[in-house]
Amino acid sequence: MLSPDQLKLAAARKALEFVPEDAIIGIGTGSTVNIFIEELAATMKGRIKGAVSSSEASTARLKAHHIPVFDLNSVDEIPVYIDGADEINHYLHMIKGGGGALTREKIVAAVAQEFICIADASKYVDVLGKFPVPIEVIPMARSLVARELVKLGGHPELRQDFTTDNGNIILDVYGMHIAKPVEVEELINHLPGVVTCGLFARRRADVLLLARESGVEVLR
Ligand code: A5P
Repeated sequence: MLSPDQLKLAAARKALEFVPEDAIIGIGTGSTVNIFIEELAATMKGRIKGAVSSSEASTARLKAHHIPVFDLNSVDEIPVYIDGADEINHYLHMIKGGGGALTREKIVAAVAQEFICIADASKYVDVLGKFPVPIEVIPMARSLVARELVKLGGHPELRQDFTTDNGNIILDVYGMHIAKPVEVEELINHLPGVVTCGLFARRRADVLLLARESGVEVLR
């Protein structure tokens, strides 16, 4: 039986096939992406121009491998964005932000032509919401947003001792059974004080590389 890390490695290796030569690619955040960065550095370092990163953590890892990191504002196009997910469904809607990088992830993903999600089979679910939905919130709006989330049926909890790369807090919302991800994403994103929520439904993945015991499945 393969370990979770071996499955992540299988998905990460498969993703290399989607990386065009000489391009600037988008890089997400998290343990699966960390494995992808190691593989990228080992096999393709001189063959890409560089990366746009979604977090300080990924930036540090890319720089440690001497992969050039570009400011998003200086880049015209990003052919592919590679990132993991905390949950992903059949429509390739996702919950992301377990690592707290959801806002920058959503920004870089919005620019990218193709979002390639790399995940082990444990992330693939019928209905999103077992994993608490992370929401980045401007600190002064914490109580307001928490009250509104309760009205939507959620149980928000402040992520302890955590500040995002943008200087904000995270509310993790438990108990949401998300049958209509696009609607829920919109509802939450419209609450004053919300920077963005970790539902990626409007900008879903285009390709899912799902690592199972039997091999990596490519879902579109
Ligand atoms: C980071 O904020 C997240 O969106 C990650 O992409 C997501 O949590 C997946 O992380 P793992 O690869 O560590 O499971």
